[in-house]
Amino acid sequence: MQHFHYQDDELYAEQIPLHAIAKEIGTPCYVYSRAAIEENWLAFDNALQHKPHRICYAVKANSNIAILNLLAKLGSGFDIVSIGELERVIAAGGDPNKIIFSGVGKSKSEIQRALEIGIYCFNVESEPELSRINDIALQINKIAHISLRINPNIDAKTHPYIATGLKENKFGIEIENAWTLITKIKNLTHIKLIGISCHIGSQLTELDPFIEALDRILELVKIIKEKNINLQHINIGGGLGIRYHSENPPTTKQYITAICEHLSHSTLEIIIEPGRAIIANAGMLLTRVEYLKCTPHKNFAVVDAAMNDLLRPALYDAWQNILPIKQDIKPDKTLYDIVGPVCESADFLGKDRLLSLLPDDILAIQTAGAYGFSMSSNYNSRPRAAEVLVDKNKFHVIRQRETITDLFALEKIVP
Ligand code: LLP
Repeated sequence: MQHFHYQDDELYAEQIPLHAIAKEIGTPCYVYSRAAIEENWLAFDNALQHKPHRICYAVKANSNIAILNLLAKLGSGFDIVSIGELERVIAAGGDPNKIIFSGVGKSKSEIQRALEIGIYCFNVESEPELSRINDIALQINKIAHISLRINPNIDAKTHPYIATGLKENKFGIEIENAWTLITKIKNLTHIKLIGISCHIGSQLTELDPFIEALDRILELVKIIKEKNINLQHINIGGGLGIRYHSENPPTTKQYITAICEHLSHSTLEIIIEPGRAIIANAGMLLTRVEYLKCTPHKNFAVVDAAMNDLLRPALYDAWQNILPIKQDIKPDKTLYDIVGPVCESADFLGKDRLLSLLPDDILAIQTAGAYGFSMSSNYNSRPRAAEVLVDKNKFHVIRQRETITDLFALEKIVP
């Protein structure tokens, strides 16, 4: 089902024309479709129905509490990487027992808070982190459940900034050292090893790297089993890619089927941590054309959204589709670079886009639900965009646009 679609030449989110949102809420503005989010989450849940499983949505992809609440109501768990994400999940009604805490730099206070709340497990990324968790658990008299995040040294074939499973990356425990570390856990009185995890990168468009990583992990799981250590789960992380342009990633069903085939002899719970595959295509960023600036070399459409609102094009040279919210019927299309008002040449949202534009036209940047708002900033003292959730024929502002006074509310002039 297409939750964003043209009807009578107008772009809609579910039953709401996007021009109505732009008119009432203004731009830039993120718009999400509730139905799309739910459909994407349920695709994972249905594909995994014959296996014990836990879907822990990666909060970093989009951490708005209204979205976390929708997912919690479906029964989702959450993969978090900071105390901020932990408190968001709790505020959104998430179940602590379905929270997994990942990340290479967990601070003492973050670990303590997570233990007090009673999260399901920590994905441990190094030996010093393991000792720190043990020390804190001892102090507050808790047993910490942990899973070791293994770095299997697999090329995820994705952008180097979002590849995490190679030896040169800071993530996880080298697979060769994993067994030595596991033997040390016996001496840590307040640690219980319950799983093995890995996450080799994001926006993977091929199945092979996932399967290779899983096979390496399974060799380790076999050794653990032979030593009579009982695990509860295997966590295969997130990373399933989506189509932004011409990529052809596996569907959720194909991905899960391939994983389950490799786990057909295992009774362990399967944990997954998808972010992008749940929320990316459920969101668009609306922006208004401020100026058309045509030069002998280039035509620029200067819009009111910028790299501070959507960083992916500037940071990864990422391509995201840009659509007019009124379908072009005029034949006079021109090649434009769609750029923002920020003072950096990296401030572009799309290059060489063939569009028919006039000032004040509204454009929609597609597949912006993941790593869009969550990576936005106030650079150039720009208030962050509003966020709207569409639910059939209604829409709700789930984050107000920041005001100018919000920008410096925490600052102070000194004598
Ligand atoms: N689990 C862990 C431990 C992760 O580090 C990540 C993402 C995920 C799960 C979710 O991965 P996903 O299913 O969303 O691919 N800002 C980048 C993506 C960074 C991903 C970081 N880790 C982008 O805009 O492409």
